[in-house]
Amino acid sequence: MIIARTAAELRAAVSGPCSFVPTMGALHDGHASLIRLAAEHPEPVVVSDFVNPTQFGVGEDFKSYPRDLVGDAALAAAAGAAVLYAPDVDEVYPPGFVTTVDPGPLSRELCGASRPGHFVGVATVVTRLYGLVRPTRVVFGRKDYQQLTLMRRVAKDLALGIDVIGAPTIREADGLAMSSRNRFLSADQRAEAVAIPRLLAAIAEAYASGERNPTALLLPTHALPSTLELEYLELRAADLSPYDPAAPAVALIACRLGATRLIDNLELDPADPTAAGRTLDAKEPV
Ligand code: PAF
Repeated sequence: MIIARTAAELRAAVSGPCSFVPTMGALHDGHASLIRLAAEHPEPVVVSDFVNPTQFGVGEDFKSYPRDLVGDAALAAAAGAAVLYAPDVDEVYPPGFVTTVDPGPLSRELCGASRPGHFVGVATVVTRLYGLVRPTRVVFGRKDYQQLTLMRRVAKDLALGIDVIGAPTIREADGLAMSSRNRFLSADQRAEAVAIPRLLAAIAEAYASGERNPTALLLPTHALPSTLELEYLELRAADLSPYDPAAPAVALIACRLGATRLIDNLELDPADPTAAGRTLDAKEPV
């Protein structure tokens, strides 16, 4: 695997079509599964490793966000990446850069409500990275469900000709969704964090037993420990429009444990109501 620090090095390594996995580094098994999914296609896989300053708000964890290029390179290579592209901030945002990509009103709801500007930062950097990497296919994790939905929107609205793939969430043995931020949790917080997949499991169980009323489905919120500060728990249609009991849906949660913000979700399908519970099982990376 080649480590490219500049667009010129990237171009020298990959000149034709490629698959792309954008990341902010601090790679874990969840990222490995995205890379493996991308590597199922014949084109070489480019993984970007760039902590994007424009998607962090004031007081958020940009400075403390974990960085580990050596560990990232080992994981990306083992998962089948051809290139790890780790550019400097000046290459992604050269002097004079002023363009932004605003993915619309949905970017100001859910996570966007408490993180103003976050999804404009994500959509802008990912679109810029598309220009540098020139992929035909991109893989995002389904854990960041709103991000995936918005990046599908951007690809469609801007007619980018990029196939956007959503990869299943990879979970720890106790069900906690893998995240680069899990490493910030103390032992006590890590034990409390399991309340999130347990809450989703309770929703999955109620849904499987035929419950479709949103208030009843979201009732298990009361079981969350008081140290876990709930930011939102919402039921939406699968495209994040308002919930429709007869259509595929998603329960989305964001909460804080101390300074660490965690998100997760559960996809619900009336055509296969027991499937949601199965997605909460720990999974080996594909
Ligand atoms: O999901 C992430 O890690 C980031 O939001 C992304 C897509 C790499 C953009 O910086």
